[in-house]
This record gives sequence, structure tokens and C-alpha cells, in this order.
Amino acid sequence: MSAEKKVLLPSLVKKYLMAGSGLILVLFVLGHMAGNLQFFGPPEMINAYAYHLHHLPGAPVSLWAIRLFLLLCVGTHIAMAVLLVKENQAARPQKYAKQGFRKADYAARTMPMSGLIILAFIIFHILQYTVRNVPENYNETIGEATFEQAHGLPPIEYFDVYAMMVKGFSNVGISIFYLVAMALLCMHLTHGVASMFQSIGFRNEMWRKRLHTLAVAYGWFIFIGFASIPVSVIAFGHGKAYLAEKEAEWAAQTQQAQTVQLAQADNFKEGR
Ligand code: HEM
Repeated sequence: MSAEKKVLLPSLVKKYLMAGSGLILVLFVLGHMAGNLQFFGPPEMINAYAYHLHHLPGAPVSLWAIRLFLLLCVGTHIAMAVLLVKENQAARPQKYAKQGFRKADYAARTMPMSGLIILAFIIFHILQYTVRNVPENYNETIGEATFEQAHGLPPIEYFDVYAMMVKGFSNVGISIFYLVAMALLCMHLTHGVASMFQSIGFRNEMWRKRLHTLAVAYGWFIFIGFASIPVSVIAFGHGKAYLAEKEAEWAAQTQQAQTVQLAQADNFKEGR
């Protein structure tokens, strides 16, 4: 049976599929980090960025197509990882028993576990920032902010993503969870990028070392970029003054809306 499966999807194809989907995810992570670093600019910057992401040409179809494509990459990456691990175990049970973990470094040994924790992180992250329901309902607690547009176009009022990020990372538990997940992600990326180069044929010893250094540098770069955001909020209170100001503004708006509603209800009663 396994022979039939191997014919259907040879190891090399699995390796290429794993490397290809991994490369797309590596590029996504880099792009997402670059986008997120706008958090260090004025709040309007990342708010305008989030607005434009949600209003890409052809949205919402284009946005969903990108999301589905990323999901397909995650699915392919996991499926190929499971198939390749099974295949290796079936092919070399004795070799593993003899060699143990001697040769593999920490990142390599923990790939399945770090992969699973990253998956759990991504699910939590999407629930927190895309669905906006964890740990509190940001759709109800965060209001809108205005950002200016160029070329004399009217200003836009849009969901305040900057305030949501400050609020999210003000929770120390969540920030620590992010930092742990980012550390695992970067270890996973370091080993993954190095293996990807091997899969696509860079097996020469000199290149192996160079590419390993490049992969380590990439992992650290991504870690520092992402980690700087929660660290800036918990350690330096970045954005907290802005959040306090906006929360007071939204509370005043809610109160005003309630007063208007009560007045309308009173008028309605009196009118009857
Ligand atoms: C400090 C770290 C991170 C921050 C501050 C952050 C921030 C955000 C924010 C604000 C959104 C929602 C954007 C919006 O809907 O307006 C988002 C969405 C998302 N993030 Fe992150 N992110 C971080 C790390 C990561 C990592 C490491 C990954 C993947 C490994 C990731 C994957 C995603 C995905 C898949 C989405 C959903 C995009 C969509 O709306 O379809 N994020 N992130």
C-alpha cells in the first residue's frame, strides 16, 4: 500500500511541496512583520494600512482568495510534514534508534511541536485580531479613528486597529504568549529555511553553512521585529496614552448616544 502511495506522490514532490508552501509562508511572515512595524509610526499609519488591506481592489473576493491561498499553504505544509515524517520513520527505524538525537539540533528536534504550537497561536491570533472576539470583544470595545487621505480626498473613519493592538498587548499574559510563540516561530523558521535550501538542492558543505547563517539571521530578524511590538507596550507603555484618550472619547460618544435615545423615548411617550 505504501508503495502505491509513494508512486502517487514521490518523496521529492512532497519535499518540494513542503519547501514551496514553507517559502510562501516565510514571505507572508516577512510582509506581515513589515506591515505591523507601522505600529511605531503615528496611529493613522497602521489604521490606514489595515483599511487599505481590507479594501484591496476586488475585495472582498480578492481578500478571501488570499486568505484561502494562505490556508492552503498551511494545510499543504502540515500534510507534507506528516507524510514525510511517517515515510522517514518507516524507512529508517533502526538508524533513528542508534543515532538518537545526537546530530539534530534543538530546533530540528522540536519542529513538529513548535509547528503545532504555532498553529494554535495562529488560531488564537485570528480569533483575537480578525474575528476580534478573544479575550474581549474588540468589535464592541474599540471604536473608530479618522485618518487623512492624500490628494484632497475626504478623511476616512475606520476601526481603530492601533488601539486594538495596544489594548491586546496591555494584557501581560497575552504578550507573554505572543513572545513565546514568536520565539518558537523563529526557531521553526530558522530550521525550516535551512532545510528548504537542502530540499531544493543546496547540499554543498560551504553553502550549507552560509545558508544556515542566513536562516539564523532571518529567524532573529523576524523575532526582533515581531517581539518589539508587545515589548514596547508592556515595558514602555507605547500607545497607552492614545488608548486612554480614545477610550474616554468612545465612552463619551456612547453616553451621548444613550442620552439622545432616552430623550427620543421620552418625546415618544409625551407625544402619545
Ligand atoms: C507581534 C506579532 C503580531 C502582530 C502585532 C500581528 C497583528 C495582526 C493584526 C492587527 C491583524 C489583523 C489585521 C486586520 O484585520 O486589520 C493580524 C492578522 C493576521 N495575522 Fe498577525 N500579527 C502578529 C504576528 C503574526 C504571526 C507570527 C503570524 C503567522 C505566523 C500572523 C498571521 C496572521 C494572519 C494569518 C492574520 C489574518 C489576516 C486576515 O485578516 O485574513 N500574525 N495580525
